[in-house]
Amino acid sequence: MDRKQKLELTWIGKGNRPRLEPRILLEDPEKSHLAVHRVTDNDIFDNRLIFGDNLLALKALEQEFTGKIKCIYIDPPYNTQQAFQYYDDSLEHSTWLSLLRDRIEILHRLLSADGLFWIHLDDSEVHYCKLLLDEVFFRSNFVAHITYERSGAAGLGQGGFIVDTGEHILLYRKGTLPSRKVFSFQDLDIKTIKRYNKALTEKGERELVAEFVAKSNNLPVRVYRHSGFRIETIPLARFEEREEEIKSEFVRRFDLLFRTNQIQKENEFQRDLVGRMDKKHLYSVDYTPSRGKNEGMPTTLYYYNAELFAWLSDTARVEEGHIVKSSNITSVWSHSELPKADMQNEGGVEFPRGKKPEQLLRRIIDMSTERSDWVLDSFAGSGTTGAVAHKMGRRWIMVELGEHCHTHIIPRLSAVIEGRDSRGITKAVNWQGGGGFRYFRVAPSLLEKDKWGNWVISKEYNSAMLAEAICKLEGFTYAPSDVVYWQHGFSNERDFIYITTQNLSHDQLQSLSDEVGSDRTLLVLCSAFRGNPERYPNLTVKKIPNAVLKRCEWGHDDYSLKVENLPKAPPKPGQGDLTFVGTEGGGE
Ligand SMILES: C[S@@+](CC[C@H](N)C(=O)[O-])C[C@H]1O[C@@H](n2cnc3c(N)ncnc32)[C@H](O)[C@@H]1O
Repeated sequence: MDRKQKLELTWIGKGNRPRLEPRILLEDPEKSHLAVHRVTDNDIFDNRLIFGDNLLALKALEQEFTGKIKCIYIDPPYNTQQAFQYYDDSLEHSTWLSLLRDRIEILHRLLSADGLFWIHLDDSEVHYCKLLLDEVFFRSNFVAHITYERSGAAGLGQGGFIVDTGEHILLYRKGTLPSRKVFSFQDLDIKTIKRYNKALTEKGERELVAEFVAKSNNLPVRVYRHSGFRIETIPLARFEEREEEIKSEFVRRFDLLFRTNQIQKENEFQRDLVGRMDKKHLYSVDYTPSRGKNEGMPTTLYYYNAELFAWLSDTARVEEGHIVKSSNITSVWSHSELPKADMQNEGGVEFPRGKKPEQLLRRIIDMSTERSDWVLDSFAGSGTTGAVAHKMGRRWIMVELGEHCHTHIIPRLSAVIEGRDSRGITKAVNWQGGGGFRYFRVAPSLLEKDKWGNWVISKEYNSAMLAEAICKLEGFTYAPSDVVYWQHGFSNERDFIYITTQNLSHDQLQSLSDEVGSDRTLLVLCSAFRGNPERYPNLTVKKIPNAVLKRCEWGHDDYSLKVENLPKAPPKPGQGDLTFVGTEGGGE
């Protein structure tokens, strides 16, 4: 057996990788949107909306964002059958995999060491994608396969052997998992709430009545008896008629509500404590648990009627006037947990079939990030990810190639910034407005062919764009100096870059060399030069475009999911234009 053989998915064209040009991004301030004034001191204005194909856009982000993104969520088009209806099935899947692989490899580089990558798919590609992701992220970094219930079965109007109500979210980490714990919250059922209808409204004075050392950890246990305490009961009579009134009473007294549970007879520690108590009194016990979720933390337990208190607030919280129960997040995200009733109205934009609910993105962002961390979605659609990230005080980057970048995302995010979007998670996170975003498009290729077929610098580039683009190609940080004309960027504090379309003479090179001095170095890129560059030990002189010609493929603008970008298949009668770029394929 070949020992080098590995378990992998192969597909047509797997070995072909585009040699991407690292483009610059051009800001269009007319389409950027900033709040007119600050709402809080923490407002974030540096969010980025990029219009264009995401492969070139992600490549463009690489220099600034490698290892910096905490949360990547993508929801790529997966309903591709229509576009590929004239092609053979394996080509369809192969193309989809190649296009996705090229993007995922860059996304993996952008992710921070403790970042999380989430991809939302249907069952047509999820299994293939899992193998692809195992290759890019490594199988050991697979975290979960989440079954996402896209809708309840009722009302779908679908037949079939099995009604498909599910979608899939695959979750990978890059290195470490975030240490914070996030819980799922669901409306607590009324039967459970009713059991917590006692409120400890007054704890009274407490007096030490016993003190001993716990056998389990040798730490002190102190037992107190309370006098002057007050326990009130919320009356539940005529519940149906008074439901709203009773529920608001539960919400008002939420922090005081408890029920009591009999102690477990086999728990010696509890038995011993209760044995010391008189049933008519309220007792509290200060101790340090030796195991369980409060292990090692000073804790107070309450007892009444020789039974142990269970506080409602230990397992629930109040959200938007409702008592909701917290539980661990599982790998099944049900419709009732993440309701979608108002999804079509969210953000005030219509995006049938593709739009995802804000609550879903809230959970994903909550599980992956802290305030002001970067969140990225390179298949932005109607802009749900950015809208949610913005309302949660995260920084965001979104890429969208369809015209709905302008018709949906800009209006949606502008409403969020101006505090006009009251739907989705707005109330739950108490979003008031503020912040902003900058709009960019991917610059055209740096090089174009002249009429003789020679590569020349594109006429669309001015000198600032040229300098920025060459800095990026050469791996320098673009930082033009206002004072020193030859400092366009730097790679470290002693190494600089100078870009010019001039033909530099010997005298010009000599004077540059003198100015740079013996403790600094300068990379010079110019159209032409005279003289022997070896004479200047502190200068490296190269010609553009020759010096960069072999770096990547030039003039290639379209890496999008278009059928015309595929290897040729024999056309069949009636074959038309099969572009499926920008279709809202996901989440049909
Ligand atoms: C299923 S939708 C995403 C919906 C989004 N999650 C939401 O909640 O609105 C997929 C989006 O990816 C976009 N898209 C497809 N190919 C793209 C590409 N190559 N570059 C950028 N966006 C692309 C489509 O235009 C579409 O808007």
